[in-house]
Amino acid sequence: MQMKDTPINYEIVKRKIKESQLESVGKATIRDIKRLVDQIEAETGERFIRMEMGIPGLPPNQIGIEAEIEALKSGVAAIYPDIFGIAPLKKEISRFVKLFLNIDVSPEACVPTVGSMQGGFATFMTVNRMNKDKDTTLFIDPGFPVHKQQHRVLGVKFETFDVYDYRGDKLHDKLESILQKGNIASILYSNPNNPSWICFTEKELKIIAALADKYDVIVLEDLAYFGMDFRKDFSSPGEPPYQPSVSQFTDNFILFISSSKIFSYAGQRIGMLVISDKLYNRKFPDLKRFYTSEQFGYAMVFGSLYALSSGTAHTPQYGLAAILKAVNNGEFNYIDVVKEYGEKAVIMKKFFLDNGFSIVYDRDEGEPIADGFYFTLSYPGFTGEELLNELIYYGISAISLAITGSSRSEGIRACVSLVKRDQFPDLEYRLKRFHEDHGG
Ligand SMILES: Cc1ncc(COP(=O)(O)O)c(C=O)c1O
Repeated sequence: MQMKDTPINYEIVKRKIKESQLESVGKATIRDIKRLVDQIEAETGERFIRMEMGIPGLPPNQIGIEAEIEALKSGVAAIYPDIFGIAPLKKEISRFVKLFLNIDVSPEACVPTVGSMQGGFATFMTVNRMNKDKDTTLFIDPGFPVHKQQHRVLGVKFETFDVYDYRGDKLHDKLESILQKGNIASILYSNPNNPSWICFTEKELKIIAALADKYDVIVLEDLAYFGMDFRKDFSSPGEPPYQPSVSQFTDNFILFISSSKIFSYAGQRIGMLVISDKLYNRKFPDLKRFYTSEQFGYAMVFGSLYALSSGTAHTPQYGLAAILKAVNNGEFNYIDVVKEYGEKAVIMKKFFLDNGFSIVYDRDEGEPIADGFYFTLSYPGFTGEELLNELIYYGISAISLAITGSSRSEGIRACVSLVKRDQFPDLEYRLKRFHEDHGG
């Protein structure tokens, strides 16, 4: 089936794959694919359409950089930061969730972390120890593979199901069938979702919230792509529509808000952990097995975050505080900046659809999914793994949905961020060739 005359030199690609010793490109991790593609690009001199890595493709936020430089010059580098975060940042996080989610959380329960990644790690350590009978996280998949890796290295148990067949009302019975076993401490999902870019509807969020209350389970909502469902304009502070969130319907929540994508700030490793006040102050006697306090917020901050890194570096905290202040005051519209991802997705999706591909996760209940940072793809007759193995000869790299907990073995995930607009003609040409070579 493979043609020798492919857009990227067939012999070189084949040799590089062999040298990489990867059993299959389609089964490789994101980092392995990155390394392989770097090597093929170096030898062929051809630029790939790189859709494997979910990293920001825009310049970093300038407001943050300037505030960080100023903070550094003022001498904060010499001083340990408070573990619970600097006061101006805690205040702006609390304002941000009021203005953009319409929820009330006190500054005390808004805690900066070393990227949202650390917020997750600290949370998984803590929530699965609140109640000795509840030691398992439920992932509503597909999801972010590193969260599962965090569970593995912590030795924390998890269960998962693919939400593909359980949208809308069906979500209720599926969730309840798992929660009623009694071992689930928390439910985790990202919204908008990495990798599929599905967004839960208000109905689905209400179902999750009601069941979390019924079974006393904590919902861990990962808002790494806050406000980036561009079908609606969530950009006006204090005005509806607000970013939909489970926190609007239950007090049993912890939010992970990353600054990496929304403010193009991934390098500074600063994220936000937002815990409902009720949960922050709640007491769980079983926590005493691991912590000096049975109060959840205290255990999280002075137990888990202290043990991990003794808080978050000072300068990124000042940077994020300045960014949030500008956003909260309506002086900086971050959504206008990141909209670029959605606009690129519209064009790129069309190239794929015109050349025989389909979107795998294509709907939020009845409505077509939004255009944003990621989308999922399949091509008739191919598994996701086979598709990646073949697309690499056409200068296109992505990752398999199989590593995200998806049951859709035909699927791959495409990330739009690193693809430059001047590569669109190449993408279109390569997809046309792919389609011609595979029966299109
Ligand atoms: C769903 C999801 N959660 C968390 C993160 C990590 O965020 P941070 O860079 O703030 O650690 C990412 C980054 O790709 C993500 O996609």
